[in-house]
Amino acid sequence: MPEHVRIYEVGPRDGLQNEATPIPTATKARYVDLLVAAGLREIEATSFVSPKAIPQLADADALLAALPRPTGVRYPVLVPNERGMARAEAAGADALAVFTAATDAFTERNIGMTVAESLDAFAPVLTRARALGWWRRAYVSTAFGCPYTGAVDPARAVDVGLRLLELGVDEVCFGDTIGVGVPSQVVELTQVAVDGGIPREQIAYHFHDTRGTALANVAAGLAAGVRAFDASSGGTGGCPYAPGAAGNLATEDLVYLLDAMGYEHGVRLEGVLEAARFVAEALGKPLTTKVGQAGGWDPRTGAPVGRA
Ligand code: HMG
Ligand code: MG
Repeated sequence: MPEHVRIYEVGPRDGLQNEATPIPTATKARYVDLLVAAGLREIEATSFVSPKAIPQLADADALLAALPRPTGVRYPVLVPNERGMARAEAAGADALAVFTAATDAFTERNIGMTVAESLDAFAPVLTRARALGWWRRAYVSTAFGCPYTGAVDPARAVDVGLRLLELGVDEVCFGDTIGVGVPSQVVELTQVAVDGGIPREQIAYHFHDTRGTALANVAAGLAAGVRAFDASSGGTGGCPYAPGAAGNLATEDLVYLLDAMGYEHGVRLEGVLEAARFVAEALGKPLTTKVGQAGGWDPRTGAPVGRA
């Protein structure tokens, strides 16, 4: 039996939150449809944050209400506070992600709170989400390094993760927000997290590919027993409050790696490539990801797969 890996798609949220080109709500909905058709079952759809902070996702209410709800598909949404929770509830959400970081300097710029204040703000949100039966994730950003304060002690990231577990999240996702992490750090962070009391099954990783280390970091995470990874079709992504953050690990690159390593994940590479091409065109940019350009590869014939 091949082992299962969860691919958590962040293209519609992380991918679009930092883009200058405005994308109509209907185009976002079509993008999500293509991702569902590709077999993705966890798609972070949007954010219920201040429209002043992230104008690109100001249509969160309309988008979420417009999405079809096929069985087995989850659309987590980012929620920073009770105001965001009320909006998410009214729009029909049933899964959320709260988001803080390992460092105060980043958290203050991103959400106007220290890490401790953010945990206080999340407590009522997570209590409500739990009462409603929602799936709940928490991000610990800057887990591999901070654009404002530099190196981060993994024990600090794990400590924040433990506080979030106490608040009742189902999953802790450690983010390499600015893409500075390397495989040895993934191995160390996973070990510190598991030793500290975060079960491996509740750990996910979110790698930005700023310096080309994301796929190597996934390989290290897999070897360390982690089975949940974020990715963005087309490799889009970045955070306006994290200078230097570039795109996320591309979903097509992740799917290629997992397929070739024999992991089962339920996602079709050709479908992801279609979604990646769609979003690149909507943004008016060329598709520059590795597998987006080369296609996949069929070992039976030696031919590329899914190339435009
Ligand atoms: P604030 O200004 O400190 O707080 O913002 P506030 O409570 O004073 O609110 C300011 C205004 O926003 C008020 O409106 C509020 O009503 C409104 P005004 O009176 O000025 O007209 N407001 C809201 N409106 C809609 N929805 C809400 C909401 N809350 C307040 N939920 C706040 C604090 C958290 C709201 C703001 O800083 C914010 O929205 N930040 C979001 C930043 C963000 O989304 N960053 C990107 C996501 S994180 C990321 O990308 C990293 C990740 O990918 C992982 C990784 O890579 O590591 C997840
Ligand atoms: Mg991110």
